[in-house]
Amino acid sequence: MPLALEIALKLLVKLPRPLREAIMLDMRIPPISNNPSKVQLSRIGHVYFEHPDLEKFSEFAKDFGFVEAHRVKDRIYYRGYGKDPFIYVASQSPDGKPRFRGPAFVAASQAEFDKAAKIDGAIVGSLDEAPGKGQIVTFNRPDKTFFHVIYGQEERVTSAEAPSAIHEQLGPFNKPFDKPRRGKFQRYHEGPALVHKLGHFGYVVPDFDAELAWYTNNFNFVPSDILYHWDFSNMDVLTFMHLDLGKEYSDHHCFFMQRAEPHVKKIFLHHTSYEVEDFDTQLIGHNWLAKKGWKSIWGVGRHILGSQIFDYWADPSGFKIEHYADGDVVNQDTVTERDVVGPFSVWGPEVPKDFADKGDVA
Ligand SMILES: [Fe+2]
Repeated sequence: MPLALEIALKLLVKLPRPLREAIMLDMRIPPISNNPSKVQLSRIGHVYFEHPDLEKFSEFAKDFGFVEAHRVKDRIYYRGYGKDPFIYVASQSPDGKPRFRGPAFVAASQAEFDKAAKIDGAIVGSLDEAPGKGQIVTFNRPDKTFFHVIYGQEERVTSAEAPSAIHEQLGPFNKPFDKPRRGKFQRYHEGPALVHKLGHFGYVVPDFDAELAWYTNNFNFVPSDILYHWDFSNMDVLTFMHLDLGKEYSDHHCFFMQRAEPHVKKIFLHHTSYEVEDFDTQLIGHNWLAKKGWKSIWGVGRHILGSQIFDYWADPSGFKIEHYADGDVVNQDTVTERDVVGPFSVWGPEVPKDFADKGDVA
């Protein structure tokens, strides 16, 4: 945000609402819809990170519920138990600084991948070294951020039943008026919350409108929810976006973008998030991470928008990383909601004051 705007904002908030909103630039997100000219993506696949201490990260990864799929030199590919051959790539940082190197989204078809490869700035590469192989195009975005589109990976064969590191035996849940589990017992033991897949990531962005336009003009990201500033109803500050798959349902958000506060000069990753089985898994996984001495940031709680049960941790490099369960899914018939920024949880611990900040990442 330019300095002039930063100063103007401080003065404007002192004025009565009708006056300040009349003076304020219109910073609402324009209407966004999908159309066939845009590259159609089917899901988020994986993320790339560089860590100063790869061995330390691999200890954390095990406790977080990732499974090591493959290791090449200074790079580790982690998988969940879903169809993606890997969901997280951790590399040794060449200069000891932690870095987020972007998400990779799966194109809906070869034709959609080829379309992505024709967008200005596309750098075509290959995933020959990676499990499942495949093709990749990379886009360099501002502030050394990256966006990747992939296609042609060999998917994992998954079993109908989710693997678990905590269940001894598990039947259906009994409710007050309906008790389908009869004479059988729920038995758990401690362990990590095994991860199914990568669910979403989010950026905090100073040049919010331009970046949002690039992503939504080129790809099928559509807002599920838009939140506006408490002092200015004509300033949108956050959007949770899903991939529009037509009638097919997709996660409420796989990508969120937040308008940075004036003091933030560069885009930063807010967090990445990974799906786990259910509430018990979340809580047992939370206790496992705590017992292993990792740093809890916020959770366990239940979000309002997206409905997920959430649990945020700091990885050893300081990146925020989340387990979630029971998230909403939406489709083309779901109306985009617009509301003022409000509480982010319906229950759970109080949100830390610095939750919107970059955190401990150097
Ligand atoms: Fe999240």
